[in-house]
Amino acid sequence: MTVISLWGAILKGLGFSVIAYFLFLGLLTVPWFQDQAIYLHSVKLTWFQDLSHILPLGLYHQHEDTLIQEPDGITSDIKQRSAFKLLRDDPTALLVLYFHGAAGTLGSGWRPASYRAMYAGAPDKIHTVAIDYRGFGSSTGAPSEEGLLTDAITVVEWAMHEAGISPSRVVIFGQSMGTAVSIALADYYAALPDPILFSGMVLVAPFADVELLTATYRIAGTIPLLGPLSPFPRLLAFFNTFIQSKWSNKDKLASFVRACERIPGNDRKYHVAIIHAEDDYDIPWSHSDRLFWHAVNASRPQGIGFEDWEEEKEQIKKPLGPTGWVAEHRTEKGIMKEQITKWGLHDMIMSYPAVSLAVLQAFTARNMGIVQPHGE
Ligand SMILES: *[C@@H]1O[C@H](CO)[C@@H](O)[C@H](O)[C@H]1NC(C)=O
Repeated sequence: MTVISLWGAILKGLGFSVIAYFLFLGLLTVPWFQDQAIYLHSVKLTWFQDLSHILPLGLYHQHEDTLIQEPDGITSDIKQRSAFKLLRDDPTALLVLYFHGAAGTLGSGWRPASYRAMYAGAPDKIHTVAIDYRGFGSSTGAPSEEGLLTDAITVVEWAMHEAGISPSRVVIFGQSMGTAVSIALADYYAALPDPILFSGMVLVAPFADVELLTATYRIAGTIPLLGPLSPFPRLLAFFNTFIQSKWSNKDKLASFVRACERIPGNDRKYHVAIIHAEDDYDIPWSHSDRLFWHAVNASRPQGIGFEDWEEEKEQIKKPLGPTGWVAEHRTEKGIMKEQITKWGLHDMIMSYPAVSLAVLQAFTARNMGIVQPHGE
């Protein structure tokens, strides 16, 4: 091949990619296709999984004989199951409500391993309930911003009223897109006339909002959504006007913090932990910096600029050796922290000890004899 024809081939290839990308952009303006690209719910990855209630291993060990006698598979009445009774009948049982990210089901990829990370800090106390949102897994319907929040609220109502678990024994856990569901959920309950606060919220690999997400997100860590448009802010803004799901996490987290700061008295505190890996290629960890800043800003009557906060954060950062660092900000009403780990990519991090520890810390000393208060 001569140099000329090689260049010709390269240019043709480039031209083809550009045309293909613009076709993709065109399709993105169609709501159905857009939802497919954002939620990736048609990508199932696993089939025939039933993992809705994950019993902590220690409890399984104690009750193994009873548990193995029960039939497998999806049950029509969870209240008849021993696992449910163990949760309901123990007044000190703790519950993680787990909201997974885009694509797949609750049985996909790293998710089953991450359920073990939920109870690792208290293997006889921490139960986990995970759901597939509408349109995911074996759940019916199609996903939407409103619909996913409705699904999450339904789980909380189930936990409070069917399982009888008070919100002070519940931790909200979200990963990736699940962080949007978690934040919207916490904000919804904090904004009620009689606010409901959970024991804590753990957000792994979150994003600041959909606009910043589309500019930086890569589907499966490879296909950029609107990233190639970032040198053209106007074009980027134009395409963003078509995206229906706004998932404005930074604003909702700020509204949550403001609502919590307004609650009179000091007996109920909020707790927000943000965790992100430096080598996350799907969602860069700069999203967590933004999110954390919005939370801190909302906790201060005068607010604080991003650069000023970053400087202040440098002073409070605690290095965690090869693991990364953590920065914690406390007010009279609550705690928020950002932890950046060196490794963990976008999903693998969910099964890391840092996540188990964050879950444990989100259940405060009030709930269980096992956690020592950290200087509170
Ligand atoms: C930061 O907080 C202040 C005071 O509440 C508010 O006026 C401002 O809009 C906030 N900044 C951002 C970027 O949300």
